Amino acid sequence: MTKKKTKSVPINLLELEAAARARLDDNAFDYYASGAHDELTLRENRAAFERIALRYRVLVDVSRRDPSTEVLGAKVSMPVLIAPTAFHRMAHPDGERATARAAAHAGTLMINSTLSNTPMEEVVLAAGAAPVWFQLYVYKDRGETKALVERAEAAGARALVLTVDAPLLGTRERDRRNRFRLPAGLTVANMTAVGKGELPDVADSGLAAYFATMLDPSITFDDLSWLKSVTTLPLVVKGVVRADDAARCVAAGADAVVVSNHGGRQLDTSVATIRALPEVVDAIGGRAEVYVDGGVRRGTDVLKALAYGARAVLLGRPVLYGLALDGQRGVERALSILREELDLAMALAGCPDVAAITRDLLADGPSEPASGQRR
Ligand code: FNR
Ligand code: LAC
Repeated sequence: MTKKKTKSVPINLLELEAAARARLDDNAFDYYASGAHDELTLRENRAAFERIALRYRVLVDVSRRDPSTEVLGAKVSMPVLIAPTAFHRMAHPDGERATARAAAHAGTLMINSTLSNTPMEEVVLAAGAAPVWFQLYVYKDRGETKALVERAEAAGARALVLTVDAPLLGTRERDRRNRFRLPAGLTVANMTAVGKGELPDVADSGLAAYFATMLDPSITFDDLSWLKSVTTLPLVVKGVVRADDAARCVAAGADAVVVSNHGGRQLDTSVATIRALPEVVDAIGGRAEVYVDGGVRRGTDVLKALAYGARAVLLGRPVLYGLALDGQRGVERALSILREELDLAMALAGCPDVAAITRDLLADGPSEPASGQRR
């Protein structure tokens, strides 16, 4: 008789979620996992990747494979960056510092959220030589917002990532039921000046109340120029799903855009990001870099995103699940699983390097590569 296994180690990013669920209380797990309302976009982000078929190439020498690329001039070992996500210390006491170390270990970079539980200066230090980008939420208090940007620059962040799909927080019904709040001792560590870094104590999601009271829903394209005037850092705009919006971001000075619907956490029934990607790539036509996130869980998802013309993908929840399971090592594991899957997908698709990953690999795409360069 074979022995029944008592514990199975997650071998892919989808299994990480179930493993993390067993480690976290409902308040934390539901916050990480949930999407807005019926969670249709949350599911569709993945389902849309699953529907795309690959026209792989054969008889290409793939004995050596190189998944490395550059983002805003920084060399990364693979086209996978860590998406900005809030509150890493709910997953593990080492929180954002562990995530930063894991990103550095994997040769990639982390985007630190405004809403980290660790001050950004400590996160940049933990990353060592690896770049950290700072994700910005704009507070109603513009003085404090400017101070945040100046701090990010002084701390050594290499880019600002302005998130534009969250003028208010989407309704995550699980968080409403749980009355989502930060566990005792944890704060919005970058912004203790506003609300003492605490979430309002309400009979609802404390984070939704924080957004409604503290953050500025009036920002427009004009504020991109304001941001450019207060910083010399490159500007990435995150949360775009339309060609016209993307083109306006670039005209206003964005160096990159992230095609994102916030992992299905904002406007439910939003278009899946992999479907929105080609129109954005085509509209930008190489004038800025394009990244995409939402539902990337398999190496073939990364391949498909690059085939449509993204320069890199961002990885959200699996990083938090890895962190919950085993701190820095758990995040390293999540990243290495994706790296190995991408390496195999590149080999089997006949792509020795990222330059070979072109649109003709997609069965539902045009047979010629996109006219623009990969951005
Ligand atoms: C996020 N996301 C996010 N985005 C952002 O710009 N600032 C933030 O503070 C957060 N916080 C956050 C918390 C949690 C728990 C999640 C799951 C997501 C969105 C994130 O950057 C990214 O767009 C999505 O997570 C990508 O989708 P996947 O990979 O999680 O499917
Ligand atoms: C979220 C915010 C913090 O998605 O971006 O929860």
